[in-house]
Amino acid sequence: SIVYLDGAYMPMEEARISPMDRGFLFGDGIYEVIPSYDGKLVGFGPHIERMNEGLGLIDINCRFTDADWREVCDTLIEKNGAGNLGIYLHVSRGADSRRHHAYPENVEPTIFAFAFEIPAAPVADRDKVKPYKVSSTEDLRWKRCNIKSTALLGNVMHFQQGHASGNQEIILYNANNEMTEGSACNAYIVKDGVVITPPLDHQILPGITRLMLLDILRKDGSIPVEERVVTMDEVRNADEIWLTSSSKEIAPVIELDGQPVGDGRVGAVWEKAQALYTANKY
Ligand code: PDD
Repeated sequence: SIVYLDGAYMPMEEARISPMDRGFLFGDGIYEVIPSYDGKLVGFGPHIERMNEGLGLIDINCRFTDADWREVCDTLIEKNGAGNLGIYLHVSRGADSRRHHAYPENVEPTIFAFAFEIPAAPVADRDKVKPYKVSSTEDLRWKRCNIKSTALLGNVMHFQQGHASGNQEIILYNANNEMTEGSACNAYIVKDGVVITPPLDHQILPGITRLMLLDILRKDGSIPVEERVVTMDEVRNADEIWLTSSSKEIAPVIELDGQPVGDGRVGAVWEKAQALYTANKY
């Protein structure tokens, strides 16, 4: 595939960064994944806004404007074929001549982007969608999960835990037995027709799919939405569980820790919400 690195497009095999890059040594960087279906980016504006906020939180001064990012995304789509793509954008603090924890002055951030294939967006049909099975575990990541940092070891280790036990994701909960999110997605329950998801704070990533889904549901008005603390007891007694991320939209979960979720079938509220999302995503 063709990738972007620091001002140029090139085959992935030719892309080179310094081993002294702080993204490589410290995971000192911010990233984004923007979905694109048939050449059309979903959530471009809010994705770039979240990246700029993250860069600000860790004092990386990236010279790229929204128009620069747009051009990189459009060019990667054009050069890689406009199928179902995730556009990965990455800014690290850059390469320094020595390994010192303090932020170095006068280093140029490294800007990298590539496109990868993602599954087709789910069709809102309970009988056709491929449901998820998940496990759960205590969230052992750090206390700044609102930053979309490239330092993903905590997420990677949790995802692997779920994967190793034969599941497609893992739901995380804090020391108070409250659900936070998945290892690479936001999490929701449905109880008595109400969609409930944890509030935005340092324990979760402010997902762009979450942002758009809640916006779409509230504008439609037929499915009530609550942002509030969700205990794992509520999760285990939920009628439905959903996961959202840019590469999967809304994924219905039918099994948690080997137990059926609700009646063990993909839920009717999921089908309605995915249909609304499909029709109104922006
Ligand atoms: N993951 N929470 C975490 C920990 C995530 O890694 C992600 C996204 C989300 C959902 O955010 P969004 O809706 O903006 O994709 C929530 C991306 C896709 C990844 O790391 O590949």
